[in-house]
Amino acid sequence: MNWSVRIGSLVMPNPVTVASGTFGYGVEYARLLDLNQLGAVVVKGIRLEPVRGNPTPRTVEVACGLINAIGLQGPGVDGFIEKYWPFLKTLQVPVIINIWGCTVDEYAEVARRFDALEGVGGLELNVSCPNIKEGGAHFGTDVRLLEKVVAACRKATRLPLITKLSPNVPSIVPFAQAAEAAGSDGLSIMNSFPAMAIDIETRRPRLANITGGLTGPCIKPIAVKLVWEAARAVKIPIIGMGGIQSAEDALEFIIAGASAVAVGTANFYEPQTSLHVLQGIREYMQRHGIEDLKSLVGAVKLPRV
Ligand SMILES: Cc1cc2nc3c(=O)[nH]c(=O)nc-3n(C[C@H](O)[C@H](O)[C@H](O)COP(=O)(O)O)c2cc1C
Repeated sequence: MNWSVRIGSLVMPNPVTVASGTFGYGVEYARLLDLNQLGAVVVKGIRLEPVRGNPTPRTVEVACGLINAIGLQGPGVDGFIEKYWPFLKTLQVPVIINIWGCTVDEYAEVARRFDALEGVGGLELNVSCPNIKEGGAHFGTDVRLLEKVVAACRKATRLPLITKLSPNVPSIVPFAQAAEAAGSDGLSIMNSFPAMAIDIETRRPRLANITGGLTGPCIKPIAVKLVWEAARAVKIPIIGMGGIQSAEDALEFIIAGASAVAVGTANFYEPQTSLHVLQGIREYMQRHGIEDLKSLVGAVKLPRV
């Protein structure tokens, strides 16, 4: 049975990983599951300097989902290397570092810094933040900016690059194609949706930041659609994510066109979800006589028109 996934020069031994920001820096989960059984470990977003993040409360549960406004808290490149890399580099599976910046130059500099660090499996570009140099335009919702940032990172590193697309665009297709054209080896689809929740007794927003990003099972059907649309438009592999909590969820993404999947919010209430998903995919492959998972990728049967 073959279910390994290749993204540029990165080889995931199996198709299940975890979504950035829902799995800390790996070490926090090490007592809860065997990280070496995953296809890869993806860490929380890192920019050049440390980030304090937003005031609390930063998360609120809603029906079938979670809204978060962590504010991309993180230790910065040096803090990450000092505090977390000694553990992460001992893992036998690829470690993908989620990176971000507020300018194209910052993205490229972070990519360059990690290029120089031995053992990094790949970089995932979180393009959901505003570009302060260009008046706050979001990298992920401006196709020209997206192309610039991917191209700059491509120049800065030979590491596999995975561009994590935002769902907040009229069509994901030009963004997927721009990332591919600029040298991305893969795509992650998708990040969270802007959302808000209000306490009706106090009439205050439930998050100190007022709004946040919606994730969890309620966003899954939207994510499946975006993966399906992007997969038909590009040749590079896609990591599908958004509300996955079972093997059935993950298989939907794969049949829609994802080569791999990531478990996010579900890690918070069942830290072993990713391993259950993996086991369920194995059972499905056996039950359906599937020798190579690639034959299932994008195998959705569409009605004839
Ligand atoms: C608390 C929290 C923190 C997150 N932090 C990041 C981050 O640092 N970088 C990033 O690219 N995505 C981040 N995400 C988005 C997830 O990686 C993922 O794209 C999203 O949660 C959808 O998957 P899910 O519905 O399975 O959670 C975060 C999500 C949550 C819930």
